[in-house]
Amino acid sequence: MPNAPVLTDTFGRHIEYIRLSVTDRCDLRCNYCMPEDFRDFEEPKDWLNFDEIERLLGAFARLGLARVRLTGGEPLLRRHLPQLAQRIASIPGIEDLSLSTNATQLDKHAVALKAAGVTRLNVSLDSLRPERIKTITKRDVLPDILNGLAHAKQAGLAPIKINMVAMRGTNDDEIEDMVGFCMEHGFILRLIETMPIGKTGRNTAYMDLQPVKAMLASRFGLIDAAFPGGGPARYLATPDGRFSVGFITPISQHFCATCNRVRLSVDGTLYLCLGQENKFEFRPLLRDGATDCELDDAIRLAITYKPERHEFLEQPDKIVRFMSMTGG
Ligand code: 5AD
Ligand code: SF4
Repeated sequence: MPNAPVLTDTFGRHIEYIRLSVTDRCDLRCNYCMPEDFRDFEEPKDWLNFDEIERLLGAFARLGLARVRLTGGEPLLRRHLPQLAQRIASIPGIEDLSLSTNATQLDKHAVALKAAGVTRLNVSLDSLRPERIKTITKRDVLPDILNGLAHAKQAGLAPIKINMVAMRGTNDDEIEDMVGFCMEHGFILRLIETMPIGKTGRNTAYMDLQPVKAMLASRFGLIDAAFPGGGPARYLATPDGRFSVGFITPISQHFCATCNRVRLSVDGTLYLCLGQENKFEFRPLLRDGATDCELDDAIRLAITYKPERHEFLEQPDKIVRFMSMTGG
């Protein structure tokens, strides 16, 4: 049997994971992500359609891509997302299809997504207090999110991870409550350091998660745990392994050396790094009749643009685009 193909960047990293933003729109306005009055969304004519997405991901998969995450903006705002999910899940070589969502509409779509082949699910949830969720997201959506989570569990989506962006002075007093909530429901918790992406990201009070990690370890008797999945989180778990909490620490302990991912935005721009401007436009190729061979060559070239690392600490003002544009 021939060896499985691998896409390798100039630093020897294997790129096997793509985060696909299916829309840059969102029904929420999280303070670290999108400004409340933001209007500058991509035009529908510039969105990659499902045929274009399937063709491009098919080409990536021929070259070594194995995992896809649907993201946004809020991916559930893209019409017929389960149809797209089903098409992606059927691409030869794609072994894993996951979804990141704010869960406000998940009650309506959980069953169809599961049937389409989505397994792993990440839900953004920064607080368990209705008023705080309103302050952070600008919408009164905690009941909708909790309802969405209940439907996801019911539909058998697993594992379910809760992503909590830790913000000093906003939700740092709620981390233990969130641990309790996740333990109770069988969710994996992931705490995330705020990145200076766009002026929204820079305005949010960053907190170093290393002390929080030590505090949770002693408070809940957690131990270091290896966790499969190939992501950047470092995990603590209960000794019986039934609960785990991951720490995504792009600032205090960055993980660029093992970065295995790239991001494709809704307009067909491939972003090689969250913290750098390096990018490659695929839409013109797709719409100007590129052959499969040309597409493969373009992908290999694009991957050579992947920079070694972000410079959030050295150059915190560098990234002017918002997170919702690149894909979370
Ligand atoms: N820093 C860190 N994470 C962010 N997200 C959005 N903006 C930022 C930021 N500035 C991530 C969060 C959120 C997901 C949709 O995107 O994890 O849950
Ligand atoms: Fe929407 Fe997620 Fe950005 Fe919040 S963080 S505004 S839910 S895309």
